[in-house]
Amino acid sequence: MNTQFNEKEISPLASIEEWEDDVLQRYPDPEATDKSKEEYRNYTDSERVDTVREFYRLNHTYQTYDFVVEKEREFLAFNKREMSIWDAVDFLNTLVDDSDPDTSLDQLQHLMQTSEAIRADGHPDWFVLTGFLHDLGKVLCLFGEPQWAVVGDTFPVGCKHSDKIVYPEFFEANPDSQDERYNTKYGVYEPNCGLKNVKMSWGHDEYLYQIMKPYLPEEALYMIRYHSFYSQHRENAYDHLMSEHDHKMFEWVNKFNPYDLYSKVPVPPDAKALRPYYEELVAKYLPATIRF
Ligand SMILES: [Fe+2]
Ligand SMILES: [Fe+2]
Repeated sequence: MNTQFNEKEISPLASIEEWEDDVLQRYPDPEATDKSKEEYRNYTDSERVDTVREFYRLNHTYQTYDFVVEKEREFLAFNKREMSIWDAVDFLNTLVDDSDPDTSLDQLQHLMQTSEAIRADGHPDWFVLTGFLHDLGKVLCLFGEPQWAVVGDTFPVGCKHSDKIVYPEFFEANPDSQDERYNTKYGVYEPNCGLKNVKMSWGHDEYLYQIMKPYLPEEALYMIRYHSFYSQHRENAYDHLMSEHDHKMFEWVNKFNPYDLYSKVPVPPDAKALRPYYEELVAKYLPATIRF
């Protein structure tokens, strides 16, 4: 449990899905009908805008290079819990917040809608599995981590924050912006050094990537690790750090993103009926239990 943050700073959002709803508003489905976009806009009230703003303020203020180093030390020891993937999904599902009227979709449904949409398009099974797993890193919330250290757009730390990141003005309060080691274009990095040498802000993406590293193909690992790196995969804000190889791999990140954002369907997948398929798929790639 983080004792240095108060309750308001740990949970500025009513539910962590508010962040995803905000992303969806920023990057609406180009194929959605005007009517469904309109319905979405009507739902968004000013209170939500304020909580999302506060969420980004905290995220941009506290996600420093040192904070990431500290979280890596804390969580990459993987000594919190050992569980099967299905236990992790059940565990994550306890995150459902029934105070939010829009959260009729629980975490399992989001995962299955994503993976089922990938499966319906005939992609390879590891891609389907990636859709099914991609947000499991959100179990960080259940370990008492602040929402802004679990979800939110991710961005490189250790170099200048791009003004293409949402609410860039909030980085003024980030101590790294005043630190000359970190506030130049390249900061601690070399031009086009490749993202494998770049530290990202801490959250569910990096955490799950580190967990899945031994088991999944590289394309899947890129999708998991960078799926919230919107300032790059939507805005190309960090081309100067990317290698040729990163660009090639980001084709997969780009392929994955619409499934994550736009796969909500009115009739949720039948989790019970699909479970045997997913159990087999999980068993094909992953060990019986995983250390979180
Ligand atoms: Fe995610
Ligand atoms: Fe997601």
